Formats: sequence, structure tokens, C-alpha cells
Amino acid sequence: MQLVGIPLRIVLVLAVVSSVTAVALYSVVLDEWEDFKVEHGKVYTSDTEEAFRRKVWMDNKYFIAHHNQKYYNEESSFKLRMNHFGDMLHHEFVSTMNGYGGLRTSDDLRDSSLFIEPDDSVIMPDSVDWREKGAVTPVKNQGACGSCWAFSSTGALEGQHFRKTGELTSLSEQNLVDCSQHYGNHGCHGGWMDSAFKYVRDNHGIDTEESYPYEHVDRQCRFNNSTIGADDVGYMDIRRGSEDAVKKAIATVGPVSIAIDAAVRTFMHYHTGVYNDTDCNPHKLDHGVLAVGYGVTEDGVDYWLVKNSWGPHWGDNGYIKIARNQGNICGVASAASFPLV
Ligand SMILES: *[C@@H]1O[C@H](CO)[C@@H](O)[C@H](O)[C@H]1NC(C)=O
Ligand SMILES: *[C@@H]1O[C@H](CO)[C@@H](O)[C@H](O)[C@H]1NC(C)=O
Ligand SMILES: *[C@@H]1O[C@H](CO)[C@@H](O)[C@H](O)[C@H]1NC(C)=O
Repeated sequence: MQLVGIPLRIVLVLAVVSSVTAVALYSVVLDEWEDFKVEHGKVYTSDTEEAFRRKVWMDNKYFIAHHNQKYYNEESSFKLRMNHFGDMLHHEFVSTMNGYGGLRTSDDLRDSSLFIEPDDSVIMPDSVDWREKGAVTPVKNQGACGSCWAFSSTGALEGQHFRKTGELTSLSEQNLVDCSQHYGNHGCHGGWMDSAFKYVRDNHGIDTEESYPYEHVDRQCRFNNSTIGADDVGYMDIRRGSEDAVKKAIATVGPVSIAIDAAVRTFMHYHTGVYNDTDCNPHKLDHGVLAVGYGVTEDGVDYWLVKNSWGPHWGDNGYIKIARNQGNICGVASAASFPLV
């Protein structure tokens, strides 16, 4: 290092100042880490575990800050935020949270019927939000269990039951997790919404959330026919890959179950804005969610309004806006369906 012209005294002062800044910065980060642990109730079994989790959290913090810089520079249409997944590696997150069984083969689709789309002369509203009509229960939390498919199914059933009876009844995901194995579902290890609708049809009902609460683990079936909250007589698939058909179904039928690719790192930390990360693959479906509406932002960007099951602290109070009419981003229209009640 060349120190020509700089008196040694100043060099020393500079060195002291910069190390003081580093220490101060580090203690701010440590305080933030303590706050993170308290806010999300994190408890670690050893110092080694904690040191590892802190490293992962710092890496996620950097990733979020880096992305948000792009958001502020208007190079991204969505913003990220630290949340309760902040101490998880992305692949850990993917393996515990995503439980949609993937695209079905044509064999599986044999006994489904197709949603008959209203013809183009029927004018659809520019925006729909079924929450405003009272058809959507509060955001739920699947916990560390790959039961997204069960939450997507109850969400669609809750909506259809509401439309039929005028009553919004929260339905039991645990009932589906515990009892629908014969339909190809694997509880906390994944499943399909259509299989859940078939189970409910053959079982002549699904219990209420209140009578059969969620436990985020696989247990024995305890369905009780005296506490049924809703029923269905089958389901309809929406034309594969057609965003227009999904729009028509939401406008005329209600909230619909959709499967998406959520195994993208930005998805884990989504906060607000219109999500349009093209790293997600419309043919690699791994997460079941509920489309409760659609709309257009003030800037003229079309979006889907999607309810997730990762609690209200994820995303925008538990919801995400996904870009619409931009080539089936994340596979929103790849495997959409709804139950018939
Ligand atoms: C996503 O949004 C950003 C910001 O509006 C834009 O620059 C980008 O082109 C969009 N990406 C896609 C795939 O539409
Ligand atoms: C089913 O639910 C009813 C009403 O809550 C209750 O009285 C009954 O004991 C339950 N049956 C079983 C087998 O748990
Ligand atoms: C409810 O379940 C009980 C016990 O399994 C059965 O005896 C009864 O017939 C069922 N009732 C109805 C309405 O299905």
C-alpha cells in the first residue's frame, strides 16, 4: 500500500475509525438478528446451529436488499421483505413448503370434465375480488408440512359453498391430509386439489375447521359425519394454459384452485407489487394456491390476486399479485380447477 503524503497519525486514526464503524455495524446487525428471533419465535438447539442460521439469514438479508435496489430503480415490479423463512436455505424451504404433486398425466384427467367457457360476447368485469363479497376465509398457515394442496382445496370449496348457501364456513385441511390417501394424496408430503375434491365427493362431505382443526402433521383419519361443513359432487378443470379461461371462471364461478411454480427464491420473500419473475416455470408446478380475483394496477399491469397458505406475515398480508397475460407466468393457468357443489 502506498502511503505517500499521508501522515502516519491520520492513517492510524482512519484505521481506528473504520474498525469502530465495522464493530458498530456488526452490533446493529446482531440486534436485528435478536429482533428477528423474537419476532418469529425462533429457538435454536445449539450455538453452532444458531451461528449457521444467522449466516443463512444474513445471506437472505443481502439477497432481499439487492433485489429491492432493483425495485427502487424501477427495474423490478415487486418488492421483497424479510419474513419467517429468513433463516432457511432456499432448498430447505422448497422441500418443506411446496407440496403440489405436479402436472397430472392424461390418464389422471380421464374422469374430469372441462369448464364450459362463456362465449366472448359475455363481457367480463375488468377486476374481481371475491374477498369483498365475503367468499374468502382469513389467510391460514400450513406450517412445515407440504399440505398446500389441502389449503387450496378448502379455499375453493369454501368459496363455492358460500356462493350456494350464503354462508362462509372455514373447512378442515386436516380432514383432507388424514383421509384422502386412497385418492393419491400424501398428506404433508404432497397431493392434488382434484384428488381432494374427489375424496369429498365420495365421502359425502368435509368437516369444518372448528371440529377438525389443523395440526400440520399426518395423523389417522378422524372424519366425523356429524360435523360436516360442505360437500361437493365433483369438479371441473379449466382449459390448460388459458389465462382467458381462468379469468372467465373466476368472474362467473368464484375463487379457483391453481397450481404454480413457487420454488423460486424471490417467491420465498415476496412482499408487494406484481410478481413477474420469469425464473418460475409454468410447466413445473409445485405449489397449490387459490386465485380469488384479478385486476389491473394503476400503471396498467394485469395481475392475478392469489391467496397463499403461509400465514399473514408472508407476502402482502398473505396474498400475492402475479403478473397476468404475460405468458402464463409461474403456471397460474396450467392446472386450474374448482369443485361443483
Ligand atoms: C417485470 O416488471 C419489470 C418492471 O416493470 C419489467 O422491467 C420487466 O420487463 C417485467 N418482466 C416481464 C417478464 O414482464
Ligand atoms: C362426532 O361429533 C359429534 C358432535 O360433535 C360428537 O357428539 C361425537 O362424539 C363425535 N363422534 C366421534 C366418533 O368422535
Ligand atoms: C354417520 O356415521 C355413523 C358411524 O360411522 C353411521 O352409523 C351413520 O350412518 C352415518 N350417518 C350418515 C348420515 O351418514
